[in-house]
Amino acid sequence: MERRYEADAGPDLLSNVDDARALRHAFATFATGVTVVTVGGDNPHGMTANSFTTVSLDPPLALICVGRNTIMHTCLLDAPAFGVSVLAAEHAPVARYFSDADRPMGAEQFQAVEWLPGPRTGVPLIAGALAWFECVPWQQYDGGDHTIFVSRLVTAERRFETDGLLFHFGALARSDQPRRTLP
Ligand SMILES: Cc1cc2nc3c(=O)[nH]c(=O)nc-3n(C[C@H](O)[C@H](O)[C@H](O)COP(=O)(O)O)c2cc1C
Repeated sequence: MERRYEADAGPDLLSNVDDARALRHAFATFATGVTVVTVGGDNPHGMTANSFTTVSLDPPLALICVGRNTIMHTCLLDAPAFGVSVLAAEHAPVARYFSDADRPMGAEQFQAVEWLPGPRTGVPLIAGALAWFECVPWQQYDGGDHTIFVSRLVTAERRFETDGLLFHFGALARSDQPRRTLP
């Protein structure tokens, strides 16, 4: 059944590009997966991100958009490599953890989660993820209050066939029966 936001539904429900709240509501209709982006080294860091987007097969490229005011943004400006772990449905607490500003920093941050070092770069990768990607910088672009980090993939490993974690309408959800296609 079709449901629409009607003009009389209230101004906060109308899409208006000058109104950050309304814009966020409109963006939130676009369902995505959820990843944790990670850097390693002496001061490892992880951040939940749903802006992960595949870009190219040849060369193998993907992008993430990272807020300029995040710690991860500072990390990525210098990092020789970073990891992307595609979260499974049971990782909802992990997604919340890596978006919580109160989580511990540095190596202590990873004591609360199960992780493994990436085979090529050593970046932390979240155990039980649907897929892992190890990435090296390719190009950066101005993305307003975010920076668009396009990266070249050095490993891509599909791990588990289980329900994925979705972000839709501003909430985490389970991708039910991911292999069933609609008629
Ligand atoms: C589901 C979800 C997706 C998110 N996606 C992004 C994203 O793509 N880019 C981004 O910059 N922040 C994103 N965030 C917000 C960051 O995870 C959050 O601001 C985090 O605390 C930043 O961490 P840091 O400043 O410690 O690096 C997302 C948060 C959630 C819950």
